[in-house]
Parts: sequence; C-alpha cells; structure tokens
Amino acid sequence: MSSASAPGKIILFGEHAVVYGRPALAVPVRQVQATAEVEASSRSGVWIAAPDIGLASELAQLASDQPLAAAVRGVFSALGIAGFPAIQIRISSSIPVASGLGSGAAVSVALIRALSAHLGQPLSDEQVSALTFEIEKLHHGTPSGIDNTVVTYARPVYFVKGQPPETFKVGAPFTIVIGDTGVAASTKAVVSDVRQLWQTAPRRWEDVFDRVGKIARQARAAIESGDLSALGPLMDANQALLQIMSVSSPELERLLSAARAAGAQGAKLSGGGRGGNMIALAAKEKAPAVAEALLSAGAKRTIITQV
Ligand code: MEV
Repeated sequence: MSSASAPGKIILFGEHAVVYGRPALAVPVRQVQATAEVEASSRSGVWIAAPDIGLASELAQLASDQPLAAAVRGVFSALGIAGFPAIQIRISSSIPVASGLGSGAAVSVALIRALSAHLGQPLSDEQVSALTFEIEKLHHGTPSGIDNTVVTYARPVYFVKGQPPETFKVGAPFTIVIGDTGVAASTKAVVSDVRQLWQTAPRRWEDVFDRVGKIARQARAAIESGDLSALGPLMDANQALLQIMSVSSPELERLLSAARAAGAQGAKLSGGGRGGNMIALAAKEKAPAVAEALLSAGAKRTIITQV
C-alpha cells in the first residue's frame, strides 16, 4: 500500500489581491491534514472512497470535472498509463471543507503523491503542485496558485502568481489562533464576485490590491526581522481592505472583535472569506484565552498554531 498526507494552510496576508498578481504569504497548518491510501484490489477498475464526502464510486462513473476523478486521470496521463490498474483509493481528511484551510489542495496533493508512488513513478514536488493547480481550477475557477504551492511544499511561502515559489524566514516564532465560523463558503463564488467588482472599476480595485500587496511586503519584512509588534496592525489593515472587497461576513467580524477584545494583537479573515476561518495574532500565553473567547463568540472550533 502507498499512502501520503498533506497539511492544511492559512493565508497570513494577501488573499484575493494575489489573484491579481500581488504578493501573498501563506503557511502550512500541520494540525489538520488530508491522507490518501492506494492499494491493489482484487476487483477490476479504479475505486475511490472518500467517506467524509459520502463518495464511493468507480472512476468511470465520475464526471470528468469531479476533482478526485480529475486528479486520478491527471496522474495516469502524466505517467502515460493507458490501461487502468485494479486499485482501491481511500481519502480521508480532518481539514474542514470550504473553510479557507486548503482542503481541496491538500486532498489533491495527498492523492497525486500516493497514486504516483503506488504506480512506481513518484512525481516531483513541481509536478505535484502543477497538477494540483489544474484541479484547483475546478474548485476555484481562477486560482492564483498559492494553495497548491504552500500545501505541496509544506513550508512558509511568499507567493507571486506566475513566479517560482519563494519561502521566507521566520525571524522570531509567533502564535496564531485560528477560529472557524462553521459557515461553508465557496471560494469560487467569492473570487468570482471580486472579479465582477474589478471589472466594473478596474482602476479603483487595482489601487486596493496595490495596498494589500504593500501590506504583504511589509509583513514579510517584519516576520523576517522578528519585528512582531508590526504584524498585528498589518493584519488589521489587511482586514479593512478585505472588508472593502466585501469578502468579510457578520460571523467573521464577530470572531475578529472577540479575538481583539481577548488581547489579540491583530486579526483578519484567512482564505476566500464570507465564512470559513479567521486568524488572530496572540502572545503565546494569551492564545488559550483568545481561543476560549472565539468559542464563546460562536466559533465551531479553534486551532492554536506556531509559525
Ligand atoms: C484562497 O485560499 C485564496 C484566494 O486568494 C484565492 C486564490 O488565491 O486562488 C481567495
């Protein structure tokens, strides 16, 4: 049997503007992960089971744009395999779906790695990321490529669309509290709404994206030099611009206020928005109190992670 796992992710700075070429920062979140297992089977055909989403089907029965089927077919085509082997694929994930934590990318990365390893031709990180990007298009429409990159390489990423991924140093470790609104939101729909705004007034939105890009660059410098006092205000400033883009939501705002009131130094939504997860920067000793405040304000769950 071959198996592979991939972590979740959070975007620290720059979501949405990254789709328009501005830089963004993302880090893996190892407390949640997706796992794929592939083994030879006595029944013919390629069988896929993903109990978390209630899926148990033969590959041939799945539509070509079904993301798991597309990933499997993508691996066969990348490896030049024409006759399908008799295999059973099992997918499981502790990453909540449609929550901004990169569940789609993590499932694709784990599946592509486990399947290519099982077929004796493990794909390189670059190939895994590129193939996952193709699947991300099915999930997200017009993704920037940041999710597949951070999840494949599983390290901090400073990402600019179309450029080779760069990692960044963390000058002094810091603690992030993640709070889940429990509201599922389609990244595809939110990205498409932002595109509509941009199409109606490109100059205005290019200016907003520039301001986000500047914040992401300043944040990278602050993280690299270990100047954590600058980070909280930068998160708040990024959140204000995300509000202007109309990608926040009452549930997110409630959690952001609760985190700040409990002593977080800054907070913002993370990922596509309109639901999903928010993140708050907190001194290590204050993180449990911030997590507690998030739960009292309605968070469905929290994760404390060290960057
Ligand atoms: C999703 O994690 C981040 C977005 O910027 C979309 C993307 O970059 O593909 C909202």
